[in-house]
Amino acid sequence: MRGVPPFYVTTPIYYVNDVPHIGHAYTTVTADALARWHRLNGDDTFFLTGTDEHGLKVLRAAEANNCTPQEWADRTSGRFRAVWDMLDISYDDYIRTTEDRHEAAVCALLQRIYDNGYIYKNTYSGLYCVSCEAYYAPADLVEGECCPVHNRPVEHLEEENWFFRLSAFAEPLLDWYEAHPGAVTPVGKRNEALGIIRQGLEDISISRTSIDWGVPVPWDPNQVFYVWYDALINYATAIGYGADRNRFDTWWPHVHHLIGKDILRFHCVYWPAMLLAAGEEPPANIHVHGYLLVGGAKMAKTGLNQIFPADLVETFGVDGFRYQFLRDQPFGPDGDFSIEGMVTRYNTDLANNLGNLLSRVATVVNKACGGVGPAPAAGSPLAAQASRVLAETSRHWDSVAPSLALEATWSLVRDANAYLEANEPWKMSPGPELDAVLGDALEVLRIVAVLATPAIPQTCAEIWRRIGLSGRPDDQRLPAAADWGGYPGGLTVVKGDPLFPRLSVEG
Ligand code: MSP
Repeated sequence: MRGVPPFYVTTPIYYVNDVPHIGHAYTTVTADALARWHRLNGDDTFFLTGTDEHGLKVLRAAEANNCTPQEWADRTSGRFRAVWDMLDISYDDYIRTTEDRHEAAVCALLQRIYDNGYIYKNTYSGLYCVSCEAYYAPADLVEGECCPVHNRPVEHLEEENWFFRLSAFAEPLLDWYEAHPGAVTPVGKRNEALGIIRQGLEDISISRTSIDWGVPVPWDPNQVFYVWYDALINYATAIGYGADRNRFDTWWPHVHHLIGKDILRFHCVYWPAMLLAAGEEPPANIHVHGYLLVGGAKMAKTGLNQIFPADLVETFGVDGFRYQFLRDQPFGPDGDFSIEGMVTRYNTDLANNLGNLLSRVATVVNKACGGVGPAPAAGSPLAAQASRVLAETSRHWDSVAPSLALEATWSLVRDANAYLEANEPWKMSPGPELDAVLGDALEVLRIVAVLATPAIPQTCAEIWRRIGLSGRPDDQRLPAAADWGGYPGGLTVVKGDPLFPRLSVEG
């Protein structure tokens, strides 16, 4: 334990009208790697993902597929779960908004807001985008009639429903953000959230009479809660809101919400306001990332540029997939994805740098040391590098910068390769000097297997096994596991197939 708060990490819950694509996977793999990093440090960790199953979009998708919305939700929620299992996503809980536990938490939280006097009835009429499940002001539309996110015509809706007194929370939110300057990262996104609040907040409609696919309003069962106010509460449901106060207080508000920039307003304005209205603390951390662009455009259900995780896993393997999205797409700005870029990154970092280090060491140990790996030397020049790399890697994972964390870890891989090239153990004769060089390289492999396990868990377990260690790298605890000298020597080193076979650009 590092004496840090518990680490509760969430992804957005994904709409079940879509199928999982690499945009969803990008957020989920990042959350998974962060959860694994914190577990490795002995932090109390809880990782939540799941699916968003109510609302008009899902109802229409079910109708189009000739089934009930529940059948549709069961089918597509299962598809997300299967993809996450394929990608080794180590979620602790998978929430579905159609579960009873969620309905109970939604009712409990919104009832609290109602009892506190922040919900009232009124008539609403407005321009609504079914894809966003959101109303738009005429000024926000593009070409006069289309939603700015989906570029599709909005619909005119009018109904009598329940309103949340969001306008009462502009000042409290500004005060809260001022007292919590690091709550939204990166800072540009914090400014965007503050900009929305400073523009003035209008009350928002939080229920619908027009559909019944949702959570009924407890004090007015003719209405259901609008899907977003039901969905946001998933983060509270999963840690026991309304059911187990102690459990809720263990994890809240130490949450890290990972979200795409498309849903900033809901997470950085509406959700904290709802929590304040219910007498709870706003979320302590919201990390906002940009879009994954394919051919310059956001990948989306309506686009033709969708890429599915399974297609890439077939060529790059699960760890090749995970590594790409963690290493090549810095968390924050938009990032362009291309197969060519992915092949280059895979060949450089995985096939060449890491794969070569392992295969060179295993080859020489088998040729010159009878397959038994020697221990590292105490005064190795790589020892200081390893301790610098641990510090840098930790700093970057802790600030949600996986790309920089992996860059730091890979600098140790490159240093070890350079050290081998300088010493040329393949030309040395058996003896203490050769043992020292090989022991140092094995020690780097051991440390890298621990530091890289949040990103590429299967590969790190395989490196661990091949250098003769028992247990698993993800059972180790940092920082002790990265102390120089942990490789004991005297272990059997196995020379196996390449960890990452080289790929040509055609794949
Ligand atoms: N159901 C809502 C979220 C409710 S959370 C209380 C929703 N779902 S979604 O299926 O549309 O998923 C949105 C999230 O998926 C984005 O915020 C982002 O994390 C991820 N992405 C979907 N497409 C993406 C890209 N092209 N690029 C990056 N992330 C993308 O909104």
